[in-house]
Amino acid sequence: MPELSVVIVAQDGEQRAVLQVLVDGTSVAKVVHTCATCPVAATDPVLRRISSANSDVVLVDIPTDNPTLALRALELVHQEVPKSALFAIGSMSQPQVIVSAMRSGAREFIERPTTTTDLLEAFVRLTTAQRKTERAGPRGKVFTVVNAKGGSGATTTAVNLALALQAAHGQVILVDLAPLGHASLHMNLKPLFTVMDAIRNLHRLDSSLLESFVTRHNSGLQLLAGPNMPVVAEPTTAEFARLFDLLVNHFRYVVVDASTRMDATTRLVCNLSEAVLLVAHADVASLWSASRLQQYLGETGSRERVHLVLNRFRKIAGFSEADAESAAGIKLLWKIPNHYFAVSSAIDRGIPLMQQNHTEIGRSFTGLAARLTENDVDVKRKAWSLFKTVS
Ligand SMILES: Nc1ncnc2c1ncn2[C@@H]1O[C@H](COP(=O)(O)OP(=O)(O)OP(=O)(O)O)[C@@H](O)[C@H]1O
Ligand SMILES: [Mg+2]
Repeated sequence: MPELSVVIVAQDGEQRAVLQVLVDGTSVAKVVHTCATCPVAATDPVLRRISSANSDVVLVDIPTDNPTLALRALELVHQEVPKSALFAIGSMSQPQVIVSAMRSGAREFIERPTTTTDLLEAFVRLTTAQRKTERAGPRGKVFTVVNAKGGSGATTTAVNLALALQAAHGQVILVDLAPLGHASLHMNLKPLFTVMDAIRNLHRLDSSLLESFVTRHNSGLQLLAGPNMPVVAEPTTAEFARLFDLLVNHFRYVVVDASTRMDATTRLVCNLSEAVLLVAHADVASLWSASRLQQYLGETGSRERVHLVLNRFRKIAGFSEADAESAAGIKLLWKIPNHYFAVSSAIDRGIPLMQQNHTEIGRSFTGLAARLTENDVDVKRKAWSLFKTVS
């Protein structure tokens, strides 16, 4: 393994010295520069020094009592020094900090206080990923599907949305976070492993181990299956954050079926998501639940990412889409038509709608996938080049 060069950014002198000893102690990496202050702007000379060190890794220490400066530093290094891999070191008991660090571009979140073993494992993961030429391009996007009320159609939506994204773009994983995983039944798969196996092995989870935990569908879609028995000891939100950090580094789109799971994990994952699809029916109880959930999920700042999806939609005299929006207090993103026979027989046979010729409902999921990805740069580019070919 080639020696990795590392820059340490740590405001605390003692922590800086400890990190230097630990990094050098791994024998696979060497500290080439240390910074006692965090860069605060793109023009900051500290940032220039980090950039000219041209290191493989920039390690940013996030103090537990005041993480703001370090999080800003992560963002700046991510933007201005894109060639270096960013590692954050912080407390695992602060899920919000983990989420912010990941959003700022950190590819590893390492527990504080740190050990040589933690660092060594992170360095090995980095070189393994580089050797396997990890998915090129930016980090993947997460779309989370949540039920307003049990049985509203979250699993149907998540499975078919994931298949539509897979057909259009490839590199999609469906993660089943429901209390009992139904997604494998919808796709007639028999998973050997579940999300819980991935979480139990987080400390050594790299791309090859992840591959062994997923179940492949014949469409190319990969599934990280849900539990087949209710889980007694729930993993922590920090463990889920670490898992999602890994997933967005390997997949272009991560679709989550949260179904009726309503806990801190769902809230964390919604926070990490590009869009949260709250699936409801156009009835009073369902829309009331949607409005309550929107408030719950929005408490940690993800309110504008929550969208309403009306499932089993059909025109009802005297009840407009605007009425549904105002009852739920959420903007309507999509309507999925009501086709009871097609949907329930698709589930019973384990052949999802996207793989059948039921045009209206299949088109609806293709449209939803297109809507969610319309602003993605490469999708726009593809549309533009198609347009040029036609004209
Ligand atoms: N668009 C639709 N048209 C007609 N029926 C539908 C539609 N979507 C879902 N259904 C019906 O609703 C039932 C529940 O669907 P699904 O399993 O996707 O819901 P869920 O919200 O994930 O349920 P759970 O709360 O158990 O997780 C299905 O058995 C299916 O028959
Ligand atoms: Mg479900």
